[in-house]
This record gives sequence, C-alpha cells and structure tokens, in this order.
Amino acid sequence: MKYRTGHFNKNIDPLAEEFNSSLSVDKRLYREDIEASLAHAEMLGQRGIIPPGDAEKIRNGLLSVKDDIESGALEIRDAEDIHMFVETELTKRIGTAGKRLHTARSRNDQVATDFKLHVRRLCGEICESLRALITAITAAAEKNTDAPMPGFTHLQKAQPITAAHHLMAYGEMFYRDLTRFRDCKKRLNILPLGSCALAGTTYPIDRDFVKTKLGFDGISNNTLDGVSDRDFVCEFIYSAANAMLHLSRLSEEIIIFSSDDYKYITVDEAHSTGSSIMPQKRNPDIAELIRGKTGRVYGDLTAVLTMMKALPLAYNKDLQEDKEPLFDAYDALSNSLKLAEKMISALTYNKKNMLKACGSGYINATAAADYLTSLKGIPFREAYEITGALVSYAASKNLPLDKLTLAEFNSFAKNAPDNAAKSDAYAAENDTKIPLFDSDIYQKIDIKNILLENSTPGGPSVKAVKQSIKDLKKRLKQVDY
Ligand code: ARG
Repeated sequence: MKYRTGHFNKNIDPLAEEFNSSLSVDKRLYREDIEASLAHAEMLGQRGIIPPGDAEKIRNGLLSVKDDIESGALEIRDAEDIHMFVETELTKRIGTAGKRLHTARSRNDQVATDFKLHVRRLCGEICESLRALITAITAAAEKNTDAPMPGFTHLQKAQPITAAHHLMAYGEMFYRDLTRFRDCKKRLNILPLGSCALAGTTYPIDRDFVKTKLGFDGISNNTLDGVSDRDFVCEFIYSAANAMLHLSRLSEEIIIFSSDDYKYITVDEAHSTGSSIMPQKRNPDIAELIRGKTGRVYGDLTAVLTMMKALPLAYNKDLQEDKEPLFDAYDALSNSLKLAEKMISALTYNKKNMLKACGSGYINATAAADYLTSLKGIPFREAYEITGALVSYAASKNLPLDKLTLAEFNSFAKNAPDNAAKSDAYAAENDTKIPLFDSDIYQKIDIKNILLENSTPGGPSVKAVKQSIKDLKKRLKQVDY
C-alpha cells in the first residue's frame, strides 16, 4: 500500500522511494506498533467509531501478524515503514475491517506513540544492565576494602586510596546514570496518540482509555507538541552518552592499570585478545572498544540535536531520522554495559603490586605535612613547605620518606616558624633547631595507617568504604524504574 491517492498522477521516482523508506530501521518497532494499534482499535470499537465486530477482527488480525513475525513466518519487507507494513499485512488478512484501523489516527501520532513505548522499554533494559554492573562493582569492592592503591591526580601519584574506594567512584557514576534513565522513562510517559496529524480529530475518541491500556501516566496536553516532541529521544541519547563517558573513563583506567608498568589489575583472558604478530601480547581490546564506541554515541547525540534544531511545528519528515541514532546509541551502550559487568566480575586485583606502588611517588607526603599541622601546631602552608623540602631531599637520595632518619627529618626543622607553640620552649633551650618530628612520624606516614586514620565519610578508609558500599546497595534496592 502506498500513500498515493487520486491526487497523484505520477509514480514516485524509485530512488526517492528508497530514500523515503525507513523500514530497515523502524522494523524494530513492530511490537509496539501492534500494541498501540490493539489499544486504538479497541477504543474505536468501544466508542462505536468503527463497528465492534470489525474491532474484533482487527484484534485477531494484529495478533496473527505479531505471531507470524515472531515465529519467522512473516518477513518484514516491501513497505515504506513499519506502520504501513503492519496495516497492509492486516488488510491482506482481514479485508475491509483492516481499512478501518487508521480512523482517527495519523502516522504522526502513531509513530510518536510507538517510539515512546519502545524507548520506555529500552530505558527499563538499560536500568537493568546498569543495576547488574553496579552489583558487580560493589561485589568487587567488597573484596578489596583493605587493598591500598595509589590515588592519582594528573595521572601522577597523589595520595593513598583503596581499590574498593576507586571502584565505588564508578558505582556512584553508574547509579546517577541509572537515575537518569529512570527519569527519562518517567518523563516520556505521556501519550501522544489522539493528537492525530497535528490538530486532533472530530471523532469522539477516548484518549484516557488508550492511555490506561498502554500504561501511560497522562495524555499530551497539546496536539502539536504531541506529534512534534522528541525530547525523549534527545534525553535518552544524552543519558547514553553520559553513561558511555563513564564507561570510557573506566575502560581507560582498566587499560592503564593492567598495562605492564602498572600491573595493578589483570583483565581476564576471556576479555583480552592476542596480536597477529607479537606472540607475547594480551591486549585489552574490549575495554578499548568501549572507549572507542563512546565517540559514536556522542555522534548520535549531535545528530539528533542537530536534526531537531529549528524544525517548524508540527511533523516534518526530518523526524524520521530520530530512530537510527537512538538505536545505535542503545546498541553501543547495552553491549558495553554487559561487557563492562563481565570484565569487572572477572578482574583480578594484584594487591601486592598495588601496595608496592604505594611505596614510591611520595604519596604519604601530605600525611607528613598533616602531622606537623595537627600534632605540632604548624600552620599548614608552612608544614607544606617543610615537607616539600623533605621530599626534595629524599628524592635526591632516591629514598622513600620512611627510610629517612629522624635526624634527617629534623634537619628541615630550621624552616619552622619560631612561634610554633609546642616548639618554643625547646627552641629556647636548644638554641637553633626545633625538632618537629618525633618517632611517631613513621607510623603517621605508613600507608595503611594513613588509610585507617582517614575519617572522611565517602573517603578511602575501610570503614568509610564499607559504609559507602552498604549505602549504594540500599539505594540500588530501593530505586524504582
Ligand atoms: N516513518 C515515519 C517516521 O518515522 C512515520 C511518520 C510518517 N508521517 C508522515 N506524515 N509522513 O517519522
């Protein structure tokens, strides 16, 4: 069936026909197209807009089309789009009654409804995948609450954290993504059907009936907006782009931390590939591909935002270009989430290597400065300077801070301010130098002790991370989507 009435005197150009067709893309909507048509036909029958007997025939016909598509008996082909395909097939099967289905409806409100139903389902699926990934992350974190590793800024070693603390940062990111998809699902759940082409209809339709039947929370308040709104498409792809951004950071760190010079983690062989020439290689291709696919999802977002820009109301055929980017973003994200979950679940944390890595890079320097400030009353800026000189000295000797003698520590005491309360008396008695460091400094700059004494909620200590894990698991249990 082609939409060419007596108004046309000529056939469509074959290339234009092919260009105009969206079937290869929107065939993914067959289920929702049938679902929405079932609700519409039932409403038409109930309102007496079409004979109730025809509504029943339409129902049975639509269900048989659906069964045949799902069993593979019916191939989706030879139509402009999925809506035309289903309607044509229905009419082939039930005759005249099939021609009544499109009463009080347009493909404009039909496609918006089908697509919303579909995206609603995809939001739910993505939330499920995010939930599984977060569960894998909390499980891995639980096994690594006592595993110190260097924390980085500027990719330079900074301060000690734990592997669990690092993992949980991603847990929080993916939880936010989950709530974004939940919100997207909630916001899109307004029924466009009944808007018709753009202006509603004179038929006495019952939009509330259709709304309830299809599980929408309300009906669109403006028929022009009902058929023109694609906010949900932009929002879904933005949420996907944001989740891919998080996945790309995770992937990048998996790649770095599994590399030969770090070896903090080992990627399971199931998620690694070899090289065609270098026999020794085990490459983290899956993580790299996830990182790479982030780019295409950003492209999908740019495509849909640009397509929507400055479109006049109401429907324009440009809108047909909304599906491909969304499906592409969904495919990339869905696969990436599932693989990230598998990768995290099978990741090995090399605790010894991570602890060893904490021994270099002076990641306990801040703790040494904090020692002077909290135990010796030195203003932080001055403590920072003393410790800086100490680090520079240790580096020149190629030694970590804890290998310096107490005398070496105190050789920098001359930089201390002479008003340091606790040191005043000693300074007076001993004339020149003020010993600021006592032997308890060694304990204070011990990596495990630094982590133990860190009392920041949300911080890296065993206690704080255990609390964070508990908290995230609780939120995950309660979140509704
Ligand atoms: N395939 C079209 C789409 O996805 C369906 C709506 C067509 N409507 C129209 N007035 N040409 O947007």
